[in-house]
Amino acid sequence: MKKLIAGNWKMNGDSASNAELLAGIVAGLPGLDACDVLVCPPSVYVASAVTALAGQSVAVGGQDVSVQVKGAYTGEVSADMLRDVGATYAIVGHSERRQYHGETDALVGEKAQAALAHGITPVVCIGETLAQREAGETNAVVKRQLAAVIHAVGHCVSELVLAYEPVWAIGTGQTATPEQAQAVHAVIRAQIAAATEHPERVRILYGGSMNAANATQLLAQPDIDGGLIGGASLKVADFLTIIRAAQG
Ligand code: 13P
Repeated sequence: MKKLIAGNWKMNGDSASNAELLAGIVAGLPGLDACDVLVCPPSVYVASAVTALAGQSVAVGGQDVSVQVKGAYTGEVSADMLRDVGATYAIVGHSERRQYHGETDALVGEKAQAALAHGITPVVCIGETLAQREAGETNAVVKRQLAAVIHAVGHCVSELVLAYEPVWAIGTGQTATPEQAQAVHAVIRAQIAAATEHPERVRILYGGSMNAANATQLLAQPDIDGGLIGGASLKVADFLTIIRAAQG
């Protein structure tokens, strides 16, 4: 299974800077096709990113998806709409959604299911806070978050992409060590193995201050199948260096 390097742009960029970033990624990609690449712009820019990437092997995704299909849900974007404009992935359950928008484990599971039901691959984020890690609760928290997703998607577990994103590592420059990350990825893999015959088909990305300097070591871990990158995905050279590190 190819590794997946995904950029979560969060609420950054504008038409001009996005065009520049995408052009830079496209220009640097030749010869780097041993991994899959995904960019997730803010929803208003998803369609223009798809257009800018026409004919390129870079997928485009949303940063969130509604559990609803359509109707009176002001501000929401459905999986159908993402697919309609050419997106193929959506980040689901990012810790910033859980923290600032009150998304619960159950809602995240429903969102993952809604995405799958409408042809969008969810990149489901799970991970503990610093307080939870210090209290020795890391594995329990991650297992609980993942159990809700497995419960919601049933036999479709093998179609998920998962991202382990320790909250304390996001945007802090404090990356999990390769050993810390691998230990949790192994726990996640074991939990998936109990739910699907082919746990190796589920890509488990690491996210949280992954950058050009630490990507090689993180991606060398046996259960780290790619990265979900925030800040460094906004810099062409850094994002390309991470993609290069994933060539294996
Ligand atoms: P940073 O890479 O900026 O730490 O963000 C990680 C993240 O939240 C990706 O979804």
